Amino acid sequence: MWGTNLKILGVVLGTIAVYTLLANAIPQIESEVPEELSFTGEVSAEELIDAGEQLYAGAGGCTACHGLGTRAPNLLTAQGSEGPIGARCGNRVPGEDCKTYLHRSMVEPNAHVVDGFQPIMPDMSRTLSDAQIWSMIAYLQSQGGEVTVTSSDLAAAAPDAASAAGGAAAGPSATTDPEALLRELQCVACHKLGAEGQEVGPPFDGIGARLSPDEIRGAILDPAATVSPGYEQFAGVMPPNFGSRLTAAQLEALVGYLAERR
Ligand code: HEC
Ligand code: HEC
Repeated sequence: MWGTNLKILGVVLGTIAVYTLLANAIPQIESEVPEELSFTGEVSAEELIDAGEQLYAGAGGCTACHGLGTRAPNLLTAQGSEGPIGARCGNRVPGEDCKTYLHRSMVEPNAHVVDGFQPIMPDMSRTLSDAQIWSMIAYLQSQGGEVTVTSSDLAAAAPDAASAAGGAAAGPSATTDPEALLRELQCVACHKLGAEGQEVGPPFDGIGARLSPDEIRGAILDPAATVSPGYEQFAGVMPPNFGSRLTAAQLEALVGYLAERR
């Protein structure tokens, strides 16, 4: 039933991707920021699934890890002997139904780490609003399972979303404390800082001895422009949208702090 819709979406998304690439070729940093969803009143499962699919393939950043071999479990296709995510989500954690499990995988990814994988998935509530997260869950459920997300899930999330004015996509707090920023923006989900953090990307210790401040700034604003030697297999994993999530003062605080780590 979704077959034709998905094909049409595929073409539309393909076209968008080409334009995004062209836009990025212009020597000005144009990052993709997840666009906020505004649903009013009743929203159909179909609308949610469509929105979720666009985010999944685009600004949500999921395909940097999912669907690329062994870095993360396949979601849209079978994973090992298990079916696609909509079919297996209800069997992951005893007592957790599919919707609850998927919500937790998104906002508390380390609560349950799928066997055989590293805990590198970022907390998506940092970059996606509640409405976006629910649409993503509907889309994942539609991959082999029954969609149980309804407007009441969105309504329950609404007061919260309203107070956050645009959700987490609006960026982190106003702090310019570099260490707080590295944690808030989840840089340490992928980079080691002293004993803290994961080594998906190069460690921050010693980075000032390897890179100039300009190179550090460039790596944050446009991670795709250069790939750190030895980390080729993780090219494309670093989110490209920090440029629009950081204020100029926050960016300079980070660059200064990293440049001093020799
Ligand atoms: C930096 C890499 C990375 C990104 C980006 C990422 N994930 Fe993940 N994800 C993982 C890894 C690794 C796992 C398996 C380990 C775990 O469970 O945390 C995982 C697990 C999951 C699971 C549970 C899968 C299962 O079989 O139970 C879901 C659902 C999921 N991710 C959805 C998403 C969605 C949706 C996005 C985009 C909004 C996303 N992920 C972005 C790396 C990533
Ligand atoms: C989801 C994982 C992920 C997150 C989150 C992330 N990075 Fe990265 N980062 C990488 C990977 C992988 C590389 C190496 C591959 C590349 O160059 O794209 C990298 C490269 C870099 C480099 C270049 C390092 C070198 O030695 O060449 C800098 C600087 C950097 N990241 C800073 C940051 C900062 C600052 C943040 C937070 C604002 C951040 N990263 C968040 C994964 C991540």
